[in-house]
Amino acid sequence: MTPVRTASTADLDTAERAAVRGLLDLAFDGEFADEDWDHALGGLHFIAYEDGRPVAHAAVVQRRLLLGDRTLRCGYVEAVAVHPGRRRHGLGGLVTAAAERVVDRAYHLGALSASEDGHALYTTRGWRLWDGPTAVLAPSGVTLTPEDDGSVFTRGLSGGSGPLVCDWRDGDVW
Ligand SMILES: CC(C)(COP(=O)(O)OP(=O)(O)OC[C@H]1O[C@@H](n2cnc3c(N)ncnc32)[C@H](O)[C@@H]1OP(=O)(O)O)[C@@H](O)C(=O)NCCC(=O)NCCS
Repeated sequence: MTPVRTASTADLDTAERAAVRGLLDLAFDGEFADEDWDHALGGLHFIAYEDGRPVAHAAVVQRRLLLGDRTLRCGYVEAVAVHPGRRRHGLGGLVTAAAERVVDRAYHLGALSASEDGHALYTTRGWRLWDGPTAVLAPSGVTLTPEDDGSVFTRGLSGGSGPLVCDWRDGDVW
């Protein structure tokens, strides 16, 4: 069985960080920006190895989401990716399952923004598409993010209506 290593960002040495970043650049076909990498740092990484090289990765970082008058501690899933030559063999599910365990046990809810490929993966794993509006707590105040509507998935969220609001950051806010 493919082993999954769980490590905090602090535990990744320079070589392992470079190997994971290389996997992400390859998996996202050159569309993985420096901000995307930054978003994946600071929490936990789940890395599947084959023949000593990373072939699948997911990360969980802590964010704050607002829903109505509730402030929710969120395990936000970032940088889920599988080597292009190793897809549809369960590796995406493997690293996502490791991330879900942390989300389910340490946070009020899980959330993520899914790519087209990701939609199918998360739907099969029981994540729920947030069908309300999305927004961000920008420096200028709460701002709707209609471009992200229909791509944000949650896990473990009960009730609530109105916009789901994320905290502010550079790059893609969701
Ligand atoms: C999305 C991604 C991580 C899936 O990885 P994977 O290893 O192929 O996923 P799995 O093999 O664990 O798939 C589990 C199930 O999810 C569904 N699924 C995954 N990818 C799918 C796709 N492209 N189309 C349809 N269903 C898909 C299937 O039900 C699949 O089970 P099956 O193969 O038995 O039918 C991978 O395609 C990838 O790295 N894509 C590029 C980067 C990206 O978009 N990442 C997601 C960011 S949100």
